Amino acid sequence: MMRKVRVELGERSYDITIGSGALSELPEGDGKRTLLVMDSTVKALHGARILASLGGKPEEVFTFPAGEASKRPETAVDICRFAARLKFDRKCRFAAAGGGVTGDLAGFAAAVYMRGIEFIQIPTTLLAAVDSGVGGKTGTDIPEGKNLIGAFHQPAGVFTDTRLLATLPPADLRNGLAEIVKTAVILDPELFELLERNKDRLVSSPDLEELYPEIIRRCCELKGKVVSRDEKESGLRAVLNYGHTFGHAVELLSSYTLPHGQAVAVGMAAAGELAVLRGVWKREDADRQNRLLAALGLPVKVPPRCLACDLVNAMRGDKKNVGGAIRVVLCSGIGSSNLPEAADEKELLAAWEAIR
Ligand SMILES: NC(=O)c1ccc[n+]([C@@H]2O[C@H](COP(=O)([O-])OP(=O)(O)OC[C@H]3O[C@@H](n4cnc5c(N)ncnc54)[C@H](O)[C@@H]3O)[C@@H](O)[C@H]2O)c1
Ligand SMILES: [Zn+2]
Repeated sequence: MMRKVRVELGERSYDITIGSGALSELPEGDGKRTLLVMDSTVKALHGARILASLGGKPEEVFTFPAGEASKRPETAVDICRFAARLKFDRKCRFAAAGGGVTGDLAGFAAAVYMRGIEFIQIPTTLLAAVDSGVGGKTGTDIPEGKNLIGAFHQPAGVFTDTRLLATLPPADLRNGLAEIVKTAVILDPELFELLERNKDRLVSSPDLEELYPEIIRRCCELKGKVVSRDEKESGLRAVLNYGHTFGHAVELLSSYTLPHGQAVAVGMAAAGELAVLRGVWKREDADRQNRLLAALGLPVKVPPRCLACDLVNAMRGDKKNVGGAIRVVLCSGIGSSNLPEAADEKELLAAWEAIR
């Protein structure tokens, strides 16, 4: 069974198709030339199958070395030059098959090639399936910072074949699960309960036929609704940054050696402490959040050798801050969150100390 989620954005609305075998729903043979973009790992594991499902030609595949280091404007330019040499015109499309790196990169190239052409997402990581593949944020990193050169460019469709997730290493599953727990904590108590009930098998024996498609569907529906109401993050969309202002500080202090999902898990634990300190969240709810994260193998304590004062300093550089104030999303219950609020140094220090 295929699950479908529609993201309503007027004339830029699109469908997300989720399920085991979703590759068969790809727009093969609709007459549009498609440049398939993949990283080296995805190409080796699934490239042939994806290319065949698209009805594409091997010479119309752009491959780049796997990893965040490739997510640079230069690689996006290489994609555009490759397309130009193949005489791709405005009527062509790019297809991003891979994780968040591929989606952000190929999506950005599609946003700027000939001032913008169509692109579709074929997420192959759990993180891309529930987060980066949905919502139209594309971008690249420069030495001055992550995602600093990018564009909003919605895909024309998203095709998530959960069979492709079978080859994901457990660490990458956990990365995606951190964002899934985040989505549940801020927006959906029932999803949270579903995760709690299944916590013991989500990593050790992932059910890619039923359970994961259902979890991915719910996350896409929730994120899609937020994006429909606030596409360019002028308000509501900011709740999706729950745990991220704290998490980015942990990422920075680890010099980006700690995976994003793990940093966000620590960030959610810190945000939970701040909400408890302020008396807006019950201790037992914060503990429940942390128990679920820990059961999924995600960290909920500050890594050794990270000092609370260094973490607060790192939070000051967050690009989401407005007018110098550090702003964080807090929850007031499992499934209910508030827009970012300013937090002062003293309470931030206390929140970090509470999870040391
Ligand atoms: N645009 C957005 O809204 C948004 C949201 C969140 C994160 N992001 C971005 O996403 C990126 C992180 O995404 P990611 O974790 O998917 O990274 P990624 O694309 O680098 O994928 C992680 C690793 O998994 C490998 N891989 C991909 N699919 C696989 C499969 N099916 N089997 C085995 N290995 C596979 C990749 O080759 C890579 O080595 C970051 O650059 C982040 O900034 C973007
Ligand atoms: Zn994230």
